[in-house]
Amino acid sequence: MEKKGRDEQKEAEDQVVNPWEVTAKDGGKIDYDKLIDKFGCQRLDEALIRRVERLTSRPPHVFLRRGVFFAHRDFIEILDAVERGEKFYLYTGRGPSSESLHLGHLVPFMFTKYLQDAFKVPLVIQLTDDEKCMWKNLSVEESRRLARENAKDIIACGFDITKTFIFSDFDYVGGAFYQNMVKVAKCVTFNKVVGIFGFTPEDHIGKISFPPVQAAPSFPSSFPHLFSGKDDLRCLIPCAIDQDPYFRMTRDVAPRIGFHKPALIESSFFPALQGETGKMSASDPTSAIYVTDSAKEIKNKVNKYAFSGGQDSIENHRKYGANLEVDIPIKYLGFFLEDDAELEHIRKEYAAGRMLTGEVKKHLIDVLTVVVERHRRARAAVTDEMVDAFMAIRPLPNMFD
Ligand code: TYM
Ligand code: TRP
Repeated sequence: MEKKGRDEQKEAEDQVVNPWEVTAKDGGKIDYDKLIDKFGCQRLDEALIRRVERLTSRPPHVFLRRGVFFAHRDFIEILDAVERGEKFYLYTGRGPSSESLHLGHLVPFMFTKYLQDAFKVPLVIQLTDDEKCMWKNLSVEESRRLARENAKDIIACGFDITKTFIFSDFDYVGGAFYQNMVKVAKCVTFNKVVGIFGFTPEDHIGKISFPPVQAAPSFPSSFPHLFSGKDDLRCLIPCAIDQDPYFRMTRDVAPRIGFHKPALIESSFFPALQGETGKMSASDPTSAIYVTDSAKEIKNKVNKYAFSGGQDSIENHRKYGANLEVDIPIKYLGFFLEDDAELEHIRKEYAAGRMLTGEVKKHLIDVLTVVVERHRRARAAVTDEMVDAFMAIRPLPNMFD
């Protein structure tokens, strides 16, 4: 009894990072070094980034250069395969829980687009409408509608239709995909999913049986129209580190059912406007900037909610400068302001107190408005026919060219 109490207390003090919750310890920041240790993944170091640059003959993406993608599992195996002249495929996904994406969701998709272009490889994108139907208490019809809406935002990121297959679970699961789900499910005990995901006896069995659905796309034979006869093809999954539990389970099972373990390349979270204690989340509108927000909404949200590391008076600010460690505008600029020299200049001036919070926020508003405007234009050009075309079950004859 007493021991349990202590364990619970310990848990309450620790940071929580799982597919459903991201919160730092006691209102502090997420400790990513600790996550690497706890999850047992590897750090993405400078040598690996140089290797990517060499193998792709193009500058590494700003998310790589700035450490937004900071952890991996077996990414080295993927690069070794590329060096031997072998190919691989990319797999990522989205749980359609809201009408549109927020800036945090753009992070894995923008990065996946870069990987697709740089390595010239096929990509499968899973829309887990079944997952959100079960977790968010949405109707089947509503989840399916949101999946199609979200597909438009994803297509707007610029994926190459000759190399990309987007599918929704409600439409696609069956056949070879379902066979792989069952193979996975047979290898995972109830105790195991409780250990990984924290399910309780009160959770409905839909939740408990869901993880194999997210595991199956890691195996090429789940896509016979794409990878028939290529069971040896390796899979690389770009995602934020909240998805790691699914793929720890998947990697554990893979060799037992005759597949390579999927490799992962994992990002930190694009933080909430309120600060780095949590991730930007679609379910809290004041934490998030959506790709559908107008220029005016972006301006208001940044000015009103973005947590500032500036001092409380101009005199103090000039004297002590800003605390960049906790400053959200600086953090956001690190994701979306591509010019290294300009970013360095802003950081220096702001830290020295020569630049004020208002000026930094103004820079950020300009940068985000451009990103969101560009996205809005691209999304407006995505027709229902294009969604159908990306989601059609079809071979992709030029996917490795
Ligand atoms: P979902 O819809 O919650 O998130 C979609 C992708 O966005 C990442 N993400 C973020 N990245 C940076 N900053 C944030 N604030 C932020 N919030 C979300 C997520 O890690 C994810 O990569 N179950 C999944 C859907 C899924 C999936 C996959 C994701 C199915 N298969 C394979 C990645 C890879 C989900 O609900 O994601
Ligand atoms: N936490 C994220 C959200 O609120 C994603 C999420 C919710 C999720 N339920 C999930 C991820 C179940 C994996 C499994 O949208």
